[in-house]
Amino acid sequence: MDKLIITGGARLDGEIRISGAKNAALPILAATLLADGPVTVGNLPHLHDITTMIELFGRMGIEPVIDEKLAVEIDPRTIKTLVAPYELVKTMRASILVLGPMVARFGKAEVALPGGCAIGSRPVDLHIRGLEAMGAKIEVEGGYIKAEAPEGGLRGAHFFFDTVSVTGTENIMMAAALAKGRSVLQNAAREPEVVDLANFINAMGGNVQGAGTDTITIDGVERLHSANYRVMPDRIETGTYLVAAAITGGRVKVKDTDPTILEAVLEKLREAGADVTTGADWIALDMHGRKAKAVNLRTAPYPAFPTDMQAQFISLNAVAEGTGAVIETIFENRFMHVYEMHRMGAQIQVEGNTAIVTGVDTLKGAPVMATDLRASASLVLSALVAEGDTLIDRIYHIDRGYECIEEKLQMLGAKIRRVPG
Ligand code: UD1
Repeated sequence: MDKLIITGGARLDGEIRISGAKNAALPILAATLLADGPVTVGNLPHLHDITTMIELFGRMGIEPVIDEKLAVEIDPRTIKTLVAPYELVKTMRASILVLGPMVARFGKAEVALPGGCAIGSRPVDLHIRGLEAMGAKIEVEGGYIKAEAPEGGLRGAHFFFDTVSVTGTENIMMAAALAKGRSVLQNAAREPEVVDLANFINAMGGNVQGAGTDTITIDGVERLHSANYRVMPDRIETGTYLVAAAITGGRVKVKDTDPTILEAVLEKLREAGADVTTGADWIALDMHGRKAKAVNLRTAPYPAFPTDMQAQFISLNAVAEGTGAVIETIFENRFMHVYEMHRMGAQIQVEGNTAIVTGVDTLKGAPVMATDLRASASLVLSALVAEGDTLIDRIYHIDRGYECIEEKLQMLGAKIRRVPG
C-alpha cells in the first residue's frame, strides 16, 4: 500500500489546474446508459473512482474507448448483463447510480446494496422509493436490489425527498428522463453536480427543467441520443487547494475552475483572513504570510457549506488563532480525521456532531492513517504545516478523489513524496 511522506513548513506559492469533478463525472458516466448511441464524456478526472465506474461498465459487457485526451466513449447498446456486482459496489457507493438508468433504459437491474461505510450508515431507501413511485417493482434479495420496470416502462411521478440526497436526486432524475410523462422531484438536491447531470441529459435530447432549485421537473422522452459532453470542474478539489495555501500562510491561483460554485467556502476563507480574488474561471488566494483566524461553520446541503470541505477546515482551524466550532449535519461519524490529528498535537474536542477546534502554535509530524477520502485530505493539509515528517498510510482513499495530488502540491512548493509500500 502506497504511503505519502510530507515534510511540513513550506509556504505554498504557485498556480495549478483543477480537474473535472468526480461527483459530476460519476452520474454522467451512469447516464450514458440512457442513450441509444455512443456518447463521449470529456474532462474526466484521472481517479480511482472513475476507473471503478469504467470497470463496472466492462463487467456489464460495455467496452469504453478512452482517447488520448482521456475522453471516454461509451456505447450502451453493447450491454450484455444488467448486474452491478458486490465486489465493485462495495468499493464505491456511487455505483448505485447505474440503478435508475438501467431500469429506465433496459427495464431491469440488479445492483448490490452498498451497505455501511466509514462515514455513517448512508442508506439508499430514497433511491428505491423514488423508483417505486415510478412503478418499478423492487425486491432486496441476497444483498442485491432487484428492480424491474412495469409493463410499458417507468411512469413519471411526483416524488418528495424527505432528506436532501445528491445521488438520490440524480438516480431518480435519470430514470425520469426516459419515463412516460412528467416527473416532479421536490426537496431535490441543488448541488452544481446535479445541474451538470441535467445539462448532460438535455444534451442527449432530454427535457429536465429546474435543476439547481429544489423542484426539478422532468418530461420523459422516447429516446436519448448520442452526445459529446465535458464535465464541470471539481469544487471540492478547488476548495482543498485553497485551504492548502491558506494553512501555510501562502498563496495560490487555481485555474480551470468556477468561483460561482463554492461561494460558501470562499466566504469562510475570507472570514479566516484570506485575500480572495476571482475571475471567470480562476480563483486566487493570498494569506500574505499571516496565520488564519479560526472560523465557525455548519455543513448543510448546497448552497450552504459542503460536508466534503468540513475536514479541511478542521485542519485550518487546528493551527488558526482562536477557537472555531464545526458542526456536521449531513453525516454521522464524519470526524475520524480528528483522532488522527490528535496524534499530531491538535486540540479538538468532539461532542456529538460538533467539533470544537482550538488553534495551536504548531502541529507535530507523526505517522497517521487515512480513513476516508476527505479525512485523508485534512491529514495532508495538517502535514503541510506540521513540524517534521508526517507519514500518511492508506492513501488509496486520497487517490479516489484527488488527481495527482503529490504532483500538484509539489508544483506549489510542498515537500511531498509517495513511497510504495
Ligand atoms: C454525495 C456525494 C458526497 C457528498 C454527499 C453530501 C457523490 C458521488 N457523492 O453523496 O461526496 O459528501 O453527497 O453532499 O455525489 N440519505 C438517506 N436515504 C437515502 C440517501 C441518503 O437517508 O436514500 C441520507 C444520508 O444518510 C445522508 C444524507 O441523506 O445523511 C445525504 O446523503 P446523500 O446526499 O445521499 O449523499 P450521497 O449522494 O451518497
